[in-house]
Amino acid sequence: MSIRPIVTQDHPILRMVAEPIAQIDDAVMVLLNDMAETMYAAEGVGLAAVQVNELYRIIVYDVGEGLVELINPVLLDYRGEQYGPEGCLSIPGLHADIRRYEWVRVQGQDRFGQTIEVEGEELLARCLQHEIDHLNGILFIDYIEEENFSVESLAE
Ligand code: NI
Repeated sequence: MSIRPIVTQDHPILRMVAEPIAQIDDAVMVLLNDMAETMYAAEGVGLAAVQVNELYRIIVYDVGEGLVELINPVLLDYRGEQYGPEGCLSIPGLHADIRRYEWVRVQGQDRFGQTIEVEGEELLARCLQHEIDHLNGILFIDYIEEENFSVESLAE
């Protein structure tokens, strides 16, 4: 396993639509391992493959309940609304309040190719929406409402 560099806001890959994974081969396994290591090293809650310059539909996250890996994740269902602070490892130093669904259900595959579903609210729901957005070239800053725009220092 190795820590990979995280691309930042101006990198064009962050605006591209990621490709589905057709076959979970050794390279995908290595990528999954590296994504987890990179996310933990950066003290992030989630990471999408595009953030380590790999244009594939893979996300990893850990909202405090252990590592989850999702290949080809799809938003199946959602409800409600939450409004709160969000940040991104690719946009260091910026946090802003944005709207998200309060609850979501997502389907994807694990590293063994098994179809899995995850559902959750609050932080988990926010994380899932944020990471899936990355696979479609969307950044959380796209949702910032102008009147609420604020730039904070790196102090956390
Ligand atoms: Ni992000």
